[in-house]
Amino acid sequence: MSANWGKHLQLSIFGESHQSAVGINIAGLPAGFRLDEAYLQAFLAARRPGREGTSQRRESDQYHILSGLYEGRLTGAPLCVIFTNNDTHSGDYRQLANLMRPSHSDYPAYVRYHGANDVRGGGHFSARLTAPICFAGALVMSILNTYGIRVDAHILNIGKIQDLRFEEAKMAAYDDLYTKPYPVLDDQRLADMLETVKQAASSQDSVGGSIEAMVSGLSVGLGEPFFDSVESTLSHLLFSIPACKGVIFGDGLAMSSGYGSAYNDPYQYQEGQVVTLSNHNGGILGGLTNGMPLRLTALFKPTPSIARPQSTINVKTHENARLALTGRHDPCVVLRAVPIVRAMLSIGIYDLLLERYGGEFHGFK
Ligand SMILES: Cc1cc2nc3c(=O)[nH]c(=O)nc-3n(C[C@H](O)[C@H](O)[C@H](O)COP(=O)(O)O)c2cc1C
Repeated sequence: MSANWGKHLQLSIFGESHQSAVGINIAGLPAGFRLDEAYLQAFLAARRPGREGTSQRRESDQYHILSGLYEGRLTGAPLCVIFTNNDTHSGDYRQLANLMRPSHSDYPAYVRYHGANDVRGGGHFSARLTAPICFAGALVMSILNTYGIRVDAHILNIGKIQDLRFEEAKMAAYDDLYTKPYPVLDDQRLADMLETVKQAASSQDSVGGSIEAMVSGLSVGLGEPFFDSVESTLSHLLFSIPACKGVIFGDGLAMSSGYGSAYNDPYQYQEGQVVTLSNHNGGILGGLTNGMPLRLTALFKPTPSIARPQSTINVKTHENARLALTGRHDPCVVLRAVPIVRAMLSIGIYDLLLERYGGEFHGFK
């Protein structure tokens, strides 16, 4: 398994859903930066299950910092943090040692790890691992904020219910996003989204959705083409989020059937600044930021674990079988994934900034 990521900001995640803890070791953080615990807690709360439309697993997400912090400030040594797992119902997963959940990691993981992988709660494949990722992302985001860089995201759709896009909303709406029960730009749509999730759950089903994200305040020329282009770096991180099945930069999907005359972004000087009059390319050209807001959409499939009986296989008896799942699951992962997307983007941008500016970037204090 690959549990490590990053060149300059180096992350190493560990733990499994039903073992004693999950956690992360983070190297490459700036010494002296003061940890804003209230901000971290609020960020983590937006990912937590136990709320309307989410899994009823209840975890406080109270983290324990083992090293790297002294008197509230980062020491410069790797920051190691753990989240203990407290609300595990491991019995719900007993049948999954033999019966493979359709659309989950169970079957390829069974083959790859010779049946030794911990299936309880999805083991290392669980979204539980995203709690420490959100911790790292929120910490890094608070550093980015001191440079005027913002990383925003909202639910763009759940099933057929669509929110506004960033470009259609007022800037003031961005600030309110994280004070709402769930981050949407148009409050009118949230009730319909939650109703869609409720209906899916009550018919023993799940539903997919997408998240739109925007990073603003980036300088021109960030990114390391060829292989560490901005798109490659960010999509590597986004595709590491369980259930993420697509990443579209700017208007990439529409552009693939459009014309240059419609989708080229014309340049203009405005008050001495270079801008583009449209932003179909989502703020990235040639793998480098171009100074316009970086825009992308991350697509999430419907949760694999549904209560409706499904056809599957029994890997012990080598027979076809039926699976009737019990246990607690998210009927729609998008409700919890907005902070995860923001965290991953912050991590990627931060690493690219360190690649470009190195220690200079760290001289904030
Ligand atoms: C926030 C979040 C919560 C999730 N909750 C569940 C869940 O309750 N049940 C489930 O089967 N999958 C859940 N998933 C998705 C699975 O972890 C994922 O589909 C599985 O590991 C297979 O990986 P893949 O879909 O990326 O191929 C969740 C994903 C995220 C991001």
